[in-house]
Amino acid sequence: MCGIVGYIGEKQAYPILIKGLKRLEYRGYDSAGVALINAHCSTYKCRGKVSDLEAEVEGKNIEGTIGLGHTRWATHGEPNDINAHPHTSMHGKFIIIHNGIIENYNRLKSKLINRGYEFKSETDTEVLANLIEYIYLKGKVNAVTAVELALSKIVGAYGLVIACVDEKDHLIAVRKGSPLVIGVGSGEYFLASDATPIVEHTKSVIYLQDNDMAVIGLNGMNLKNLNSKQSGEKKPIIHKLELDVDEIEKSGYDHYMLKEIHEQPRSISDTFRGRINPATHELKLGGLHYNMDALTNAKRIIIIACGTSYHAGLVGEYLIEEFARIPTEVEYASEFRYRDPIIYKDDVVIAISQSGETADTLAAIELAKEKGATVLGVCNVVGSSIPRSTDGGVYTHAGPEIGVASTKAFTAQVTVLTMIAMQIGQKSGSLTKQEYSDLIEELALIPDKISAILKKSDEIKAISELYQHATNALYLGRGYLYPVAMEGALKLKEISYIHAEGYPAAEMKHGPIALIDENMPVIVVATKDKSYDKIVSNIQEVKARKGIIIAIVTEGDDTISKMADHVIEVPESDFALAPLLSVIPLQLISYFIAVLRGCNVDQPRNLAKSVTVE
Ligand code: G6P
Repeated sequence: MCGIVGYIGEKQAYPILIKGLKRLEYRGYDSAGVALINAHCSTYKCRGKVSDLEAEVEGKNIEGTIGLGHTRWATHGEPNDINAHPHTSMHGKFIIIHNGIIENYNRLKSKLINRGYEFKSETDTEVLANLIEYIYLKGKVNAVTAVELALSKIVGAYGLVIACVDEKDHLIAVRKGSPLVIGVGSGEYFLASDATPIVEHTKSVIYLQDNDMAVIGLNGMNLKNLNSKQSGEKKPIIHKLELDVDEIEKSGYDHYMLKEIHEQPRSISDTFRGRINPATHELKLGGLHYNMDALTNAKRIIIIACGTSYHAGLVGEYLIEEFARIPTEVEYASEFRYRDPIIYKDDVVIAISQSGETADTLAAIELAKEKGATVLGVCNVVGSSIPRSTDGGVYTHAGPEIGVASTKAFTAQVTVLTMIAMQIGQKSGSLTKQEYSDLIEELALIPDKISAILKKSDEIKAISELYQHATNALYLGRGYLYPVAMEGALKLKEISYIHAEGYPAAEMKHGPIALIDENMPVIVVATKDKSYDKIVSNIQEVKARKGIIIAIVTEGDDTISKMADHVIEVPESDFALAPLLSVIPLQLISYFIAVLRGCNVDQPRNLAKSVTVE
């Protein structure tokens, strides 16, 4: 969480920083700030969005060809003007932006207070700014040495960009646990938490590794790893960005979320590209080439993830157990990492993450690695931390997802998990040749089927209008469709602030049924599958208590359509692929309800896209 940008070059920094911050606003949006390194060093910051910062800065001095910018998701200290970044040290020598958490900041703060330091904010970042300054002034060392010494006393995670007013010809960037990318232009450098602010300036980027420190000047940069036993410089590896600016624009849609929902036919095709061939019935996942033996021989597969990625993992459990016949468990990364889980060397752990940066998922990966398991990643952001810390994996290739509520990343994750399960099943023989070929053909049809569902947007909007004032909603599903119900409920609560629960339909009798009355919309995901008859009974139970039924059904269903208040039809598919279709109306329902309620769909309150704190 929190977005960081920086610039050093010959252009004016302010417009580059502001545009970059807007691209990173999905990472946090409770306050924003910039510092411009000019004759006086001007810092502007305020509570609110980047647009509030622009208003705040109007008419002020924004000169400067070096600068830093930050958009915040508060951890220490409420969102207000003072706690906003950048933070300046007490004597004004250092200006800092930070993404992450400094765990021992309280102890360091007390020591600095005893040495005469006064603090303006409640943040951990200001403690670091003052600690660096204290070492710099007291030790009479240069800025780089002061930063290095200060960081040796810090426990925590950080992506940092630091400017020293006495050394205005360079910026210092350090990464430990929070992402940081350097864009290499011609005579200029860009810094950012991810590549989206950089792509329109240069396609050459360096992904900092943990404990890397870059000193970036107009004439070049030096990189070293603070943990490395070898002293001296490290050779930077320059990667070419495959991202296009178009992919990070709204392209005529009202919101990123709507754009991303509509992108799904294409994003799923991108997930397939070069991997499945319906004509030859082949499926190949290059990223798992060296891990197929571990996967086919695994006694157990453990999936770890957070948020929507966790729901994709739940679908993955059903898929892997059905196609590959390997016992599979799914766990929230935040629980897994703290409960001393039993992990065997022949377990395979699959970490799912859109951003590839979720702190709990990263920590859970480290734990699984320590215990000797093979760890694989299913991630969307290329070059992010999770793919770099796993033994192998599969990129989802859904393209940048900017709306905080995840949509196309979910369907891409489920698509990848389907392919993994199929590949294991084919190798181990638990899927017959015919089943395997049929599934490949079925999978290839999914993008067109999603396009057909998206054409029903007006119908879905009309239903959504009727329930925009609901205060609660219940989502029900069975089997493969139970995780879809959970995902539907999460979508509704996160962007429209309506309380919603996702439940396995049969469990309704053990509690939630008590909530049902004539005001309660119950969204039932009831496409044709093995438990169809059972879910029909569940619908009758709701109707008997005057609940309102909105049912997602298979095209041509004439049983549920007679009982439900509303039905939304989706095309028929293999049961195992139904989540990829039935989730689409649920994404649209939550989108339309949130818009009708006047909510900020792309930036819901209190949330952030990338949760890089525990
Ligand atoms: C945040 C986001 C969710 C996302 C979750 C896990 O809560 O708002 O959309 O599902 O983090 O993120 P990851 O990047 O690991 O998938």
